[in-house]
Amino acid sequence: MAEHELGPKLWNYLTGGSDTETTLRRNRAALDEIMLVPRVLRDVSRVDASSSLFGLDLRIPVILAPIGSIGLLNPDGAAASCRAAEAFGIAAGVSVMAKPSLEELGRSFKGKHIFQLYIEGDEEWVRDIVRRAAASGSFGALCVTVDTAHYSRRDRDLQARFSPAEAIDRPNLAAGPVGKGGYRATFTWDRLERLCSWSELPVIVKGILTAEDARSAVNAGASAVYVSNHGGRQLDHAPSSIEMLPEIAGAVGTATKIIVDSGFLRGTDILKAVALGASAVGLGKLHGAALAAGGWKGMVRALEILEAELTIAMALTGCPTLSQVSRDVLRPHRLVRAWWGQSR
Ligand SMILES: Cc1cc2nc3c(=O)[nH]c(=O)nc-3n(C[C@H](O)[C@H](O)[C@H](O)COP(=O)(O)O)c2cc1C
Repeated sequence: MAEHELGPKLWNYLTGGSDTETTLRRNRAALDEIMLVPRVLRDVSRVDASSSLFGLDLRIPVILAPIGSIGLLNPDGAAASCRAAEAFGIAAGVSVMAKPSLEELGRSFKGKHIFQLYIEGDEEWVRDIVRRAAASGSFGALCVTVDTAHYSRRDRDLQARFSPAEAIDRPNLAAGPVGKGGYRATFTWDRLERLCSWSELPVIVKGILTAEDARSAVNAGASAVYVSNHGGRQLDHAPSSIEMLPEIAGAVGTATKIIVDSGFLRGTDILKAVALGASAVGLGKLHGAALAAGGWKGMVRALEILEAELTIAMALTGCPTLSQVSRDVLRPHRLVRAWWGQSR
């Protein structure tokens, strides 16, 4: 996928970050600071990278991260994400902002995906949209994104006079005073706790970057913590997800699942995340670019390439299964020495 295929506006929107884009660049730089060490003469004739997350089977430890504007990148929107995810054997995150409607999605996809919620209304609205998501039958988990209390400034979009909120079709938000009341900014830990208490789906809290907030999420009743800086699109100068992962994994313990995203593009990146305590890695920009470039089949092809890369990396580090992947496969480069001694 190149800029000329998507057009400069959409390309810059998809690939850009907030303000100086320091966090966007840091996501890649931090992953590159971690070395993988080869281990030899172990039987790696069979490599199995499969696992599961809330009963969702994952052929590789990857999910498609939610993209509210996915309908701008592919005419079928989140239906194309779900189709690709099912064809390959992983789960897709479906943003509440995305098209098609929950009801339409429910007619084709049963029980395999993750519904991502932005708090766009009062508590009554939240209960109603979660009930609709559960009734659709498409979802095995509910992901509440909490890192966008205020939308960031993204220079590329401002320069292009591009407003994604105005450009996208949001069938799930068609009715009511939604999106106008700044509801996201009023959502606090006590409201999260209430949501977790009545949600029938396990709750994932997305956009956590500190051990303290990870502990608070677990105390509020979350079943999983999703470590993310929104792909460098929200708080500029925030740390990379990979560098915060060890301290968060140490804080929440093994009973809480951890998902991580922001900057992950390769099988070796996924191996590093698993070694540092993640159960799954989310793909954001790669999800958008692959669906834009080749539709659901292009997404499947991208996942096949990732699987090949991950399988090779597991074999060459001497790990035939994910349960054998540990910090032993890693060595610190200069950036990561600070947390190297910490354990989960
Ligand atoms: C175009 C675009 C739209 C996004 N929309 C949403 C969204 O609706 N909800 C959400 O929780 N995250 C959203 N995200 C963030 C992704 O879910 C994910 O956290 C991020 O893209 C991961 O970083 P990566 O792009 O480097 O893989 C969006 C990201 C992009 C690139």
